[in-house]
Amino acid sequence: MKKLWAGRFNEKTESAVERFTESVSFDARLWRHDIDGSIAHVKMLGKQKIISPKDTAMIVTGLKEIADEIEAGKFRFKESLEDVHMNIEHALIKKIGPVGGKVHTARSRNDQVALDLRLYLRDEIKEIVKLVKALQKVLVNLAEKHIDIIMPGYTHLQRAQPVLLSHHLLAYYEMLERDSARFMDCLKRVNVMPLGSAALAGTTLPIDRKYVAGLLKFPAVTENSIDTVSDRDFVIEFISASGILMTHLSRFSEEIILWNSEEFGFIELPDAFTTGSSIMPQKKNPDVLELARGKAGRVYGNLMTILTVMKGLPLAYNRDMQEDKEPLFDTVDTIKSCLAILVKMMPGVRFKKSEMEEATMAGFLTATDIAEYLVKKGMPFRKAHAVVGKTVKYCIDRDMNLTDLRLNELRNFSELIGEDIFHCIAVKASVEGKKSFGGTSGKMVLARIKKIKTGK
Ligand code: ARG
Repeated sequence: MKKLWAGRFNEKTESAVERFTESVSFDARLWRHDIDGSIAHVKMLGKQKIISPKDTAMIVTGLKEIADEIEAGKFRFKESLEDVHMNIEHALIKKIGPVGGKVHTARSRNDQVALDLRLYLRDEIKEIVKLVKALQKVLVNLAEKHIDIIMPGYTHLQRAQPVLLSHHLLAYYEMLERDSARFMDCLKRVNVMPLGSAALAGTTLPIDRKYVAGLLKFPAVTENSIDTVSDRDFVIEFISASGILMTHLSRFSEEIILWNSEEFGFIELPDAFTTGSSIMPQKKNPDVLELARGKAGRVYGNLMTILTVMKGLPLAYNRDMQEDKEPLFDTVDTIKSCLAILVKMMPGVRFKKSEMEEATMAGFLTATDIAEYLVKKGMPFRKAHAVVGKTVKYCIDRDMNLTDLRLNELRNFSELIGEDIFHCIAVKASVEGKKSFGGTSGKMVLARIKKIKTGK
């Protein structure tokens, strides 16, 4: 295939080089954005009288036909034409003749690829934020439905204090809220129009960049042509936000895996979202969650890839930057699939109320409540901590729970203890007592659910 840039070359490109340098095998997915960008560019060239109205119309029609062909699966992308941009330009010239060659006036692939990526990522971020919101909605619905379930809250993976299951689930809602805010913030920097920077210096032709930005619904144009064709910050930023999202999804997956284990026995996963073992007939494995947890590794790897590719690159464009696409696309695909599967699976999870509540009975989970009881009676907290520590030790030595203690036994530890102590030893009262803002009481959690649902 004769190259569009073949003018100054005597030899044909070595086929191993074509294979080594091509990107069309993965950047073909940018075709629609490439064509949208070219149509806007050509309309601008027409408006600025850089090309004639007739040529403009021919190119626009040709590009639309190519889009239809690709859509219908009738287009063959060729490796020898390197990338999506050259494949489409080549097809255009083949279709409408040499006039098709005018599409690349006042443009380089360096600003073209930056435009395609920004258009692509802008669309994907909107889809991703929708999925994040869908998962948040699932969590809020579960929190509302199970508002009466108390479970042990953990620190160091040791039972710590009783909390509402709903409060624990909403912790993930808050993480996802920050994730979607990070994506929306990243979108501001993605949503800037790069075209017209040409190779790196701009162009002598009288282009109108703002007009192109308007056609493509960009609120702003980039300020510096050298920066524009060198910049992949927006890719780094997006993958970084995705890495944080995956951290959250992996922690969530891990907890659901733990809760589903025989050892915890807090939940049961829906059959349709688990898999069996090829040897052990009794097994029902949480593979979906294990993959969601594991895929965090891919995304972190992608972040390391793009950071390393960009590090130390001299300005302006370097071909190294073609290596931005696979980590970007893989990140988009990975986070979308993880979000989508969790949105589907979570509503089918069965939460076992009595098992969760049973687990709050052992482990002296209300010890801190007793210490705070003594504080309310005037004892310094440090002393109260020691008193309750002794009480717990007394129970451990006798294989008892705090709830087994009688008043006269309790009063051996402090004179301040009265009949009303039993109120704060009970798990339910402990939870209801956590009325500090952001705490786990039903009152607080319901208020948060209401605020999320109504904005008030
Ligand atoms: N396929 C290239 C990329 O993805 C497009 C830009 C190529 N520019 C160049 N001058 N070779 O980065």
